[in-house]
Order: sequence, then structure tokens, then C-alpha cells
Amino acid sequence: MGVEAQEGIERVLIPSWRIKLRVRRLARRLERDLAGKDPVIVAVLEGCTRFLADLARGLRMPVTVDFVKVSSYREGARPGEPCLERGPSVPVADRELLLVDDILDTGRTSALLVRMLKEAGAREVRTCFLLAKRKRRQAQVRADYVGFEIDDRFVVGYGLDHAGRFRDLPYIAALGRE
Ligand code: IMP
Ligand code: MG
Repeated sequence: MGVEAQEGIERVLIPSWRIKLRVRRLARRLERDLAGKDPVIVAVLEGCTRFLADLARGLRMPVTVDFVKVSSYREGARPGEPCLERGPSVPVADRELLLVDDILDTGRTSALLVRMLKEAGAREVRTCFLLAKRKRRQAQVRADYVGFEIDDRFVVGYGLDHAGRFRDLPYIAALGRE
């Protein structure tokens, strides 16, 4: 779909072909690093879905995929305070985990998840993000695999949304300033 057809989109930051290439390269690296470890991919709903689908399809090795969900706005929690809505449904104790999320921003979401997974007994938790914003993090997170580093602005597409919209765009785009 053309950019002009998408109201609110300012410009394409990362076209589909670059995402495809990068995800394929990440898959090759993960195959090398996770070989023989029988890893569990713990994917963070809902933004991860397109990235996860392409990444997992690109991996030429068996993996278990599980989903967790974190919400950032919830009654009883301060706005922006991440809150675990759904934990993993497979046992993670003593397993090698790969946390997969769409974007690393403040780092609070993944810090919460890494802590929770380690408390659940994971042997190792690596992290993989399609995007990481270049900015000072509010939480200490180790980003082991990053698709693209981007400037600090709001992006949508390829799974990332704004109020539920734009997830199906095949590219990453900057949202126009409103
Ligand atoms: P963090 O806890 O600040 O690292 O937030 C990470 C989560 O915030 C991501 O998993 C996204 O769901 C959401 N997020 C952060 N920045 C963006 C953005 O630019 N576009 C869409 N979602 C974003
Ligand atoms: Mg998310």
C-alpha cells in the first residue's frame, strides 16, 4: 500500500526489503548462538507478531514459541508502569530463553520481563528487538540482538501500532506530529 494512502504517516523510515534482509541476518546469528540450546522464544504481545513470524520462520532450527503480555496502562498502576498481564505458559525453569519484542524504548517492559523470567528459574535470558530507540534508558536492559537503532520518535508498522492502527503496514514509518 502506498504511503499516501495512509493518513497520519509522515514517512517510511525502514522499507520492507530492508526489514526482510535484516531479519534474515538476525536469524542466521541466532542459529549460531542458540545451536544445541533448545531455546524457548518468549514473545511480547502484541507488537512482536510480524517480527516474530518472520524471525521464527527464518530460523532453521527447532524452537518453542510462547507469548507473554505486558500492559503499560492499568487501573491501580501509575501510567507507564508496566504490568504483567499474561506470563509464559510453558515451564521456563532451566531453559535458554530468547525474549523477542518489537521495540526497546525506556526498557521498563523488558526489564520487568527479564527479572520475572529469571525469578522463574530461566538459565539464561537473551533479548532481541526489531528496533531500539537511541536514548537514555530508564531501566537497565541488555539488548543482545537489535534489528535497527532509530531516533527517539514514535514509529508504527510491521506490528507496531498507534491506538490499534497501522500494525499491518509492511514497513516501519514515522507517525506525523499531530
Ligand atoms: P518500554 O517499556 O518503554 O521499553 O516500552 C516498550 C513498549 O512500548 C514496546 O513494546 C511498544 O509496545 C511500546 N512502544 C514504545 N515506543 C513505541 C513506538 O515508537 N511505537 C509503537 N510502540 C512503541
Ligand atoms: Mg510492545
